[in-house]
Amino acid sequence: MSNGILKGKKGIIFGALNDKSIAWKVAEKAHAEGATFVLTNAPVAMRMGEINILAKACNNAQVIPCDVSKDEDMNNLITKSMEILGGKIDFVLHSVGMSLNIRKDRDYTDVDYKWMHETFDISSISFHRLMQTCWKQDAINDWGSIIALTYIGAQRIFPDYHEMGDAKTLLESFARGFGYRFGKAKKIRVNTISQSPTKTTAGMGVKALGDLFDYAAALSPLGNATAAECADYCIAMFSDYTRMVTMQNLFHDGGFSQTGFSHDVLKMIDPKQDEQK
Ligand SMILES: NC(=O)c1ccc[n+]([C@@H]2O[C@H](COP(=O)([O-])OP(=O)(O)OC[C@H]3O[C@@H](n4cnc5c(N)ncnc54)[C@H](O)[C@@H]3O)[C@@H](O)[C@H]2O)c1
Repeated sequence: MSNGILKGKKGIIFGALNDKSIAWKVAEKAHAEGATFVLTNAPVAMRMGEINILAKACNNAQVIPCDVSKDEDMNNLITKSMEILGGKIDFVLHSVGMSLNIRKDRDYTDVDYKWMHETFDISSISFHRLMQTCWKQDAINDWGSIIALTYIGAQRIFPDYHEMGDAKTLLESFARGFGYRFGKAKKIRVNTISQSPTKTTAGMGVKALGDLFDYAAALSPLGNATAAECADYCIAMFSDYTRMVTMQNLFHDGGFSQTGFSHDVLKMIDPKQDEQK
């Protein structure tokens, strides 16, 4: 399915680590829809080399390293992207997340605050840094679209989501803060997409994702949204068909966020429910 809805649009896509990454699927679909873009990831992630396979498949897209926690990397990325793409940017995907306390198995009641700062810097403040850099360089075209990916752990407690829940709350708040300013100044829209649990490298870093994945699938009337489906939604949000949507946290979760009970969940808790019918 491709209708050229991003024909002529220029973008920057953060966070394609491997072919499981949501950003990877977004890049493939953006390319199919006629966009040209720059790919970026942390220098350490690039050493794995997989991003070059994606770049090749996307009409030899240029790859620029950027550690999102570094001002100078962000500045360089935005300047170079405009040079490479020959002008201002129409869309940006922020698809970046990392928790040091989760990675190092520190309990929520015993966090290392240096790591927590790093988690917030990489997973949330980077979104502000990205938008502030674009603002200062006047890098985004009027009616441009900026998206960051988030999770419902920002609103509800999922104990194993740990400090990432707090990081995502901050991320979603930055979308509103900059969404207002970008909207007033240049009709640029800023939104977050709150995705179902998805089996990617970052997703698998969350303890008990297997259980959470099955639970979310059983609660959601449509089941879990896949990475490819999330990419479809991102493409729609980059397109001109969603020009009046801004400052929103958009749930892309098969209905999970609005469902309180499902018989499928009950069957998971008490399999006998099935036999009694
Ligand atoms: N997988 C899920 O269940 C799920 C659900 C909802 C939201 N999300 C969000 O989707 C986004 C993409 O994650 P994913 O699931 O595709 O996993 P992923 O592991 O493929 O992507 C995470 C990316 O963040 C990048 N990154 C980490 N530190 C960085 C740094 N300092 N500088 C630049 N990049 C850095 C990684 O290299 C990687 O490419 C994240 O924001 C994640 O929180 C994921």
